[in-house]
Amino acid sequence: MSHQDHSTNALSLLNDYLHALADSGAQEVLLTSEAISKLQDIANGKSNGDQSHQDKVLSLNALREKAEKSEEYRSIQTLRDTMVFATGNPDAQIMFIGEAPGAEEEKQKEPFVGPAGKLLTKVITAMGLSRDDVYISNIVKFRPRIDGPDQGAKNRKPDNNEIKASIHFINAEIKIVNPDLIIALGASAMSGLLGLESSVNSSRGRLHAIGKHQAIVTYHPSFLLRSGSNADKRKLWEDMLMAMDYLQMPISEKQKNYFLVR
Ligand code: URA
Repeated sequence: MSHQDHSTNALSLLNDYLHALADSGAQEVLLTSEAISKLQDIANGKSNGDQSHQDKVLSLNALREKAEKSEEYRSIQTLRDTMVFATGNPDAQIMFIGEAPGAEEEKQKEPFVGPAGKLLTKVITAMGLSRDDVYISNIVKFRPRIDGPDQGAKNRKPDNNEIKASIHFINAEIKIVNPDLIIALGASAMSGLLGLESSVNSSRGRLHAIGKHQAIVTYHPSFLLRSGSNADKRKLWEDMLMAMDYLQMPISEKQKNYFLVR
């Protein structure tokens, strides 16, 4: 069942119930403020009417299959053949979105398992979470091709054409997972999801909207691997503290001080 079906179903059930109440002579209905806010979310299309875990898994599997068979994707000669879709918890509050799989991701068919992925996993652990608590995906689902007899471990950023072909898949994925917060990792994710062509540095540190969803932008872990600077690590960490604060997650004194440059 799609989100839309769930919302429509919830609203039509409620409609029937309210009519039955009115028919039985009721003059008013008392609702808690929480119930009112949930109804407003459903009516505004913000909530998926509590789509069940199983529904999300089925919808994501269907989307995965659609992406794998996509003519549009397959016609892009600049992408390789093995799809790397996503990993993690479809009920996650946080959805991390990177740019495209690299060599290691292609081999394991899982996003963020190479060197940048290991750093991302450390960040997630430092937040007090595990990879199974969050949802991890990429805008582009195939590793960008580099011409030559053997690409080896060489990776490249996806180009605009490759990102454009991917946008409706990642948007559909966001709709299904329905996270409370999206964390866009690096410039490709930022420009693809938010249409921003500014630098990551000038776009980080505040909330952005992706449709009805809230998002923050931060450095791609591979930038931190290249930079090696503690000041840059601290900036990424401050973005994670902002995410944790936004999600009302507990933050210890120790966590507040990670990578503080003294
Ligand atoms: N970089 C990305 O953006 N995604 C991955 O999955 C791996 C590296």
